[in-house]
This record gives sequence, C-alpha cells and structure tokens, in this order.
Amino acid sequence: MKVIITGAGGMLGSDLLDVFKKSDEHKVSMFRRNELDISDRDQVLSVVTELRPDVIINAAAYTDVDGCEINREMAFAVNAEGPKHLAEASRSVGATLIHVSTDYVFSGDHTQPYQVEEECHPKSVYGQSKWAGEETIRHSWERHFILRTSWLYGLHGKNFVTTMLRVGKKESTVRVVNDQIGSPTFSWDLAQAIISLLESDKYGTYHVTNQGFCTWNDFSKLIFSLEGMKVDVLPITTGELGRPAPRPAYSVLDHHKWIEARFPSLRHYDEALQDYLQRWHELNDER
Ligand SMILES: NC(=O)c1ccc[n+]([C@@H]2O[C@H](COP(=O)([O-])OP(=O)(O)OC[C@H]3O[C@@H](n4cnc5c(N)ncnc54)[C@H](OP(=O)(O)O)[C@@H]3O)[C@@H](O)[C@H]2O)c1
Repeated sequence: MKVIITGAGGMLGSDLLDVFKKSDEHKVSMFRRNELDISDRDQVLSVVTELRPDVIINAAAYTDVDGCEINREMAFAVNAEGPKHLAEASRSVGATLIHVSTDYVFSGDHTQPYQVEEECHPKSVYGQSKWAGEETIRHSWERHFILRTSWLYGLHGKNFVTTMLRVGKKESTVRVVNDQIGSPTFSWDLAQAIISLLESDKYGTYHVTNQGFCTWNDFSKLIFSLEGMKVDVLPITTGELGRPAPRPAYSVLDHHKWIEARFPSLRHYDEALQDYLQRWHELNDER
C-alpha cells in the first residue's frame, strides 16, 4: 500500500516510521512540518494528488496545550483546518484517512470511562480545536478512522517519562499532580494499532490507549520504582500548578468499540512502561 504520514518529525510520527521500517510491505512517504504544512490547503491537495496514496496517516498537530490557549488561531488552523484539508484530499483520491485525536475532547467531569459516542464538551482551546478536526472529518469523508488516545510518551522527543528521569536524577523530591486520572500510552503501541487498520474497512471513531489508568503522581512513582530511583513524590493539585489551559480531571477512555471490531488490544500501561524504559536506555545510554 502507498502510505503518506504527516507530522513525521513528532513523537508519534517518529514511532510510526520505526514501525513501518520493520516491514517492506508498504511504500511510505513521510512529511515533516517543513515539507508539508497541513494548514496549507493547496500544498496538501498538490502532494496528495501527485502521490495518490491508499492511506494518509495524520500524526501532525499543534500539541502545546497551553500554547493553544494563547494562540487560538494557530490551534484551529492546524488541528481543525488541517484535518479538513486532509479529508478533502483523501476523498479526491479515494484514500483512507487515519487521524489521531485526544482525550481532551471530553470535559473530564465523569468518573466512569468515556464511551466513544458520548457528547464532547472540551474545556481547553486545544480540545476544542481537536474536536473541530474530528467533526470536519466525520462530515466530509466517510472512509476515515479517528483514534482518540491519551497521555502519550514515545522514544523520540521530550515527554512526561523523560522529564521524570531527568528531574529524578537531580532532585530527591518531586511534586506531581494527583488529581488527573488517565491512561498513559506508549506511542509505539499506538503506532502498531494504527498499522493494524491499514487493510480494514471498519471505519469510525475509536478509543485506543494502553490498558489501566492512574494519576500522573502514581505514574511517576512507577517510573522511579522501575528505575530503582529513590525519589519522594509529593502530591500537588492541578490548580497549584497554575497552567493556562484546563486539563480533564478524568479522561479514561472506554475500549469496547475497538475490541468489538476485533482490533488488537493494547497491553497494560505498566508493561508498556517497562518495555519503554528498556528501549529508552538501549537508545540513550551509550550516547
Ligand atoms: N502527546 C500527547 O500526550 C497526546 C495525547 C493524546 C493525543 N495526542 C495526539 O496524538 C497526535 C500525535 O501527537 P504527538 O504527541 O506525536 O505530537 P508532537 O510530538 O507534537 O508531534 C506533532 C508534529 O506535528 C507537527 N506539526 C505542527 N504543526 C504542523 C503543521 N501545520 N503541518 C504539519 N505538521 C505540523 C509538529 O512539528 P513541529 O514540532 O515542528 O511543530 C510535530 O512534528 C496528535 O494528533 C495529538 O493531538 C497526543
């Protein structure tokens, strides 16, 4: 299959490339932001019309949640207009569009896992722009997959796990929020889930995360414990952090629809984290 990946320089985009490299089954064309700006309609249509892919995977997004609050225009240009251009381009060549969305489309006011079909009431500009991106795809091109995921960390680039590893080396005490609950997800696992969709026609919106859930505070304790690092993790509230964008307090995503469609279940987050740490050390320790 001919596959285009946008946002190839990002965390998920990099893991997607690594997973694709393991097989020569597909012909993959990857685009970093400076090679294909998804907010530029003409550029998107021109690249897609020329390459005529079977599948477009959109890993591009403006993911700076606090930055989105300040730069609303940019958030909507990338996270809402970008998917609109990709849906239009996909439709023009009959390609399947695989788009990645977020737990931030939900308000986070629930105490039970969010079902796919539940109403979305995003509180942050980031969540609103991602929700607009989902809706524009649903309304314009039926051959799409929208995968909502959460709390991503990957082998390339900065993320919560690498931040904890760095801070834990310098400090004996860290303060980590304990009033947000969600499912940490290894972007390599998500990349594999995405690739499992390439030949499928069970289009629609799905929730895809590693299994299990915890607070960021719990997750940091697990990181330090697996690493054998002696760091005291103190609880702090989201309010105390004083970040510009609101975060969902509870954003556990229900996987029933994914499982019923017989797509492969992702492993538990603690197993994924152990694998991540091992691979992260293999990549970074000898540098
Ligand atoms: N990270 C998370 O915790 C998380 C959680 C839930 C869902 N998601 C979703 O998962 C997907 C992948 O996220 P990620 O964590 O891999 O994000 P990421 O590391 O920030 O990667 C996003 C990539 O998109 C690129 N990009 C930004 N604007 C663009 C544009 N106009 N055209 C083309 N490329 C552009 C970025 O380039 P620059 O770096 O040069 O700006 C970056 O390489 C996104 O849809 C995100 O909303 C992420």
